Amino acid sequence: MKEIQIGLIGFGTVGTGVVKILIEQEGLLRSLVGAPMKLKRIADLDLKRDRGITIPKGLLVNRADDILNDPDISIVIELIGGLEPARTLILKALGKGKHVVTANKALLAHKGDEIFQKAFDRKLDIGFEASVCGGIPVILALQQGLVANDIESILGIFNGTSNYILTRMTEEGLPYSQALKEAQQKGYAEADPTLDVEGMDTVHKLTILMHLAYGSPLNPETVFVEGITRVGALDIEFAREFGYSIKLLAICRKEGDLLEARVHPTMIPKTHMLTSVQGAYNALYIKGDSVGDVLLYGKGAGMMPTGSAVVSDLVNMGRNINKGVAQRIPQDLSRKSFKEKGLAFKPFAEVLTRYYFRFSALDRPGVLSTIAGILGANQISVASVIQKGRETEGSVPIVIMTHEARESSVHKAIQKIDRLPVITDRTMIIRVEN
Ligand SMILES: NC(=O)c1ccc[n+]([C@@H]2O[C@H](COP(=O)([O-])OP(=O)(O)OC[C@H]3O[C@@H](n4cnc5c(N)ncnc54)[C@H](OP(=O)(O)O)[C@@H]3O)[C@@H](O)[C@H]2O)c1
Repeated sequence: MKEIQIGLIGFGTVGTGVVKILIEQEGLLRSLVGAPMKLKRIADLDLKRDRGITIPKGLLVNRADDILNDPDISIVIELIGGLEPARTLILKALGKGKHVVTANKALLAHKGDEIFQKAFDRKLDIGFEASVCGGIPVILALQQGLVANDIESILGIFNGTSNYILTRMTEEGLPYSQALKEAQQKGYAEADPTLDVEGMDTVHKLTILMHLAYGSPLNPETVFVEGITRVGALDIEFAREFGYSIKLLAICRKEGDLLEARVHPTMIPKTHMLTSVQGAYNALYIKGDSVGDVLLYGKGAGMMPTGSAVVSDLVNMGRNINKGVAQRIPQDLSRKSFKEKGLAFKPFAEVLTRYYFRFSALDRPGVLSTIAGILGANQISVASVIQKGRETEGSVPIVIMTHEARESSVHKAIQKIDRLPVITDRTMIIRVEN
């Protein structure tokens, strides 16, 4: 069989993993595809950096155009990250009739519709297994294994950095800032961790999964987001007292025709399977109407796990090229919009859930009853209270767990409580899932 020629743009962490697998597993890949998978060219801005692997001389160039303009290259891998120039490079590759593999979740979440449409128009494939939860084959699960199901919910830990930080805060009682520093020293967090700890990376991944489960358009703005930066060691301690752990969860639910999508720190029971997902690991709980619960667990990032996902896309594409087929599996399955399917997003204000509130209040008589009064007036019923004399900077924490309440009522009540003269800091709100 004629060899399948591949061009890689971006020889960084994931790119290096991909090159390693392509070199070390050359024989295996050839037998899986039925033709040699040949890495023809790599483009990166830095031609000198030592990546710890030996590649043939002349393979590495610093112009992505050398790949895009090569008529023999049929698959382009984009691993540079970010919106631009990644978007332009991918659209150019598709314009030149090349299939594309990418791990770029930010780009797909924001510009995926444009990219998928162009691939569809040109009868080409886009592989994006590595864009969600690194080495865990979740795209494959939604595009193939679970297609017989109406997806009722997706619940998951999609961000290893945040999960590592929360794990260390739980294990060692570390404050957030110290756990973050440790994550950075160990290479689990970037120098600028904003996308991870503020939840946007998780939103990007959830957006892509919802696109597969429910249709287009891809729109990260439909997902409510709150990061982990305000979670304190005190919250972790109180959660433990209530029998919960705190995780940054992606939550998506379909109830009737309404979709609910949110990302925020969440209390889950200590006995919940997601509680045992520790450190930089990821996990997804998917519920389908026929299959029931499916749990996927593994490494959501890193050179080799993410490289493994990219190469799985390459093998699929290689097989398709060999058989002369493309778009055997459409990117969004039915190519229908939410609207065409009769689905709509539930406004976040309408979401019903249980809540944990940590109020910081002056230690004065009557404070608890004032707070309880405001909650009651907003139809928020209290399930349990902890008030201990743990004074922090002149105030004491008052912790309340509620029964199910509406987000809009909580918003109103907390705004009112936070304006009380006895309240010394913004109330900490953590949503609770059972
Ligand atoms: N790292 C992970 O574990 C992981 C997991 C899942 C998904 N992803 C996704 O995978 C993608 C790559 O991530 P990464 O961690 O491998 O990033 P990375 O280590 O920063 O690698 C990106 C590489 O692309 C190069 N580059 C930047 N602009 C370029 C251009 N215009 N032309 C050619 N090369 C260019 C960079 O060179 P310079 O360094 O010289 O700028 C760098 O070597 C991202 O979309 C990321 O979200 C990563």
